[in-house]
Amino acid sequence: MKTIIEPFRIKSVEPLRRTTPEDRERLLDRAGYNLFLLDAEDILIDLLTDSGTSAMSTQQWAAMMRGDESYAGSPSFYRLKSAVQDLTGFRHVIPTHQGRAAERILFTVRCRPGHVVPNNTHFDTTRANLEFTGAEAVDLLPAEARDTQARLPFKGDMDVPALERLIAERGPAAIPMVIVTVTNNSGGGQPVSMANLEAVREVTARHSIPLYLDACRFAENAWFIKQREPGYAGWTPRQIAQKMFSLADGCTFSAKKDAFANIGGFLCTNDDVLAQQEKDLLILTEGFPTYGGLAGRDLEAIAVGLDEVLHADYLEYRIASTGYLGRHIADAGVPIVEPPGGHAIYIDAGRMLPHIPHAQFPAQSLGVELYRHAGIRTVEIGSVMFGEHAQNELLRLAIPRRVYTQSHIDYVVEAILEVNARKDGLKGYEITEQPAFLRHFSCRFRPV
Ligand code: F0G
Repeated sequence: MKTIIEPFRIKSVEPLRRTTPEDRERLLDRAGYNLFLLDAEDILIDLLTDSGTSAMSTQQWAAMMRGDESYAGSPSFYRLKSAVQDLTGFRHVIPTHQGRAAERILFTVRCRPGHVVPNNTHFDTTRANLEFTGAEAVDLLPAEARDTQARLPFKGDMDVPALERLIAERGPAAIPMVIVTVTNNSGGGQPVSMANLEAVREVTARHSIPLYLDACRFAENAWFIKQREPGYAGWTPRQIAQKMFSLADGCTFSAKKDAFANIGGFLCTNDDVLAQQEKDLLILTEGFPTYGGLAGRDLEAIAVGLDEVLHADYLEYRIASTGYLGRHIADAGVPIVEPPGGHAIYIDAGRMLPHIPHAQFPAQSLGVELYRHAGIRTVEIGSVMFGEHAQNELLRLAIPRRVYTQSHIDYVVEAILEVNARKDGLKGYEITEQPAFLRHFSCRFRPV
């Protein structure tokens, strides 16, 4: 059979609350046209993020009941540690309350003013945490990958010659680590090839620079390698993931993505001295090293999720359903970041709405219109989020894991195509109030 179905059935459901167009007009006005300021109950389909929004499985809920809440030495921690070590091979597993806490601890211990840390593309919290230590965050994506329309199989790959140049210019001593983000979220959810990881590994090893994975979406990346990279078709997703981790010296991980957990993360390393420094800081800010700011039940949910996410039928469905949304809108003329990524589709609103100047936020306009038209929430990744540094005006539709069915996605496709049919009438927005930094979370707008 060629139909790819959701590889689960539904045991517990949550009702969706419908609003009328008049309600939504009023709610938008009240929220200053900022979708972050809407109440979740006023949203029909929420594609704001795939982070912490997964549906957990029966096995995860069952495991949560055996969560052991001991302050020190909980068996739930040892179950998590063994799941992480089996997957990654790393010696030290340090739990944290989410991904950015792992980043903060790693960077606080390793980074100083004068340091520079390259990444294929830093996620915004990663960049912010690095800059907070005084270090410089540099993105090394090849020029061809910046073209939203280029259909490259591994558009998340790091630019290895640029990495070599950076090391030659700044010297290895100024580079405390190199990070590769799999998949590359800010670059469109695009995968990184094993060959690229191996090439980066070769360079970092030659200069004795530690290589870290920002591994939030490691399983989705592994599936793309299996499908697209010669030599891996016969490998299991677990074998591919194990090889990816074996090339690195450590990782940061947000369990809110590919571990199907609603909260959690961890930091791994093979370096005993570094692990001790990290655990000392962990105790100061997150908690004892066998819980790291999480409840024992969270550790259990993550341990089970790390196994489930590597099931081939899940990954086949996951990547196919993201591609389904992408192809259905792109083939009908809506420009997206090509090819479809793993966890999200990014509409190129700058290209779709050329009559709205960047300074009037075309992706914000499209996001507001999708909510107004159909109750769908998305997130702007463009000039609202990055100001003058924005490379593109994108609207991200992130797909929560195991939450929405194909008919929900069909509804999203229909809504986007209806808005696309009258796109020339969409207007720009201007900002009326904004905070000093990370303005996208709380600024207010007015239609121009
Ligand atoms: N790294 C990447 C690549 C991410 O996508 C995120 C979070 C983090 C680190 C931080 O993890 O949220 O657990 O602290 N991304 C979410 C998103 C928020 O919507 O893309 P966290």
